[in-house]
Amino acid sequence: MLQLRVFVRVLQQSHVGNQGPNKAFPLAHSAGRRNTSTAPPAAAERTLIAVKPDGVQRGLVGKIIQRFEQRGFKLVGIKMLQVSKDLLSEHYCELRAKPFYPDVQAYMTSGPVIAMVWEGDNVVQTSRSMVGPTDPTQAQSGTIRGDFSIHVSRNVVHASDSLEGAQREIQLWFEGKDLLDWDCCSRAWTHRP
Ligand code: TYD
Repeated sequence: MLQLRVFVRVLQQSHVGNQGPNKAFPLAHSAGRRNTSTAPPAAAERTLIAVKPDGVQRGLVGKIIQRFEQRGFKLVGIKMLQVSKDLLSEHYCELRAKPFYPDVQAYMTSGPVIAMVWEGDNVVQTSRSMVGPTDPTQAQSGTIRGDFSIHVSRNVVHASDSLEGAQREIQLWFEGKDLLDWDCCSRAWTHRP
């Protein structure tokens, strides 16, 4: 009997704070909310991840998304696009003058790219470690580039390299209305309370 009462109490407590509008799915208590700006909610960190044309052509999109999901990050925006030369030149503004830039431009505009915004504690730095170094020959197995690529000119994925870079890139690639604030029911198990 005591055990039953404790069980009922635990169940009641697990629903505190989840009394949102969706009674059928108390743990998914808020529907996605569209922002008008690309700024994350207070204290949330966001980064831009893009699966480059080689990753899309080679059917790696699902595997790459899975790595960010299973790490505990939350997807707040995703789209497939054909990157224009103008967008790429803004995105890689620091690389425009490099001798390899024409090759990067031809590669990045050669086919569709999947652009995503991921959110979570320390997501910028953690994503960079998950992606691995620019040159896949330097990348450890277990990183995305270390597992899926062998040459710097076909390194499968992009990840913003700093908080400021992430903010700039997210604004460049996404409109605020394309990003969704939503409550992920596994958050309590992946982030500190
Ligand atoms: P960079 O921003 O330096 O690296 P990262 O993607 O790791 O942030 O370079 C952008 C892309 O340019 C890189 O992912 C692949 C391409 N690139 C080359 O093709 N050759 C090179 O020598 C370098 C440095 C980059």
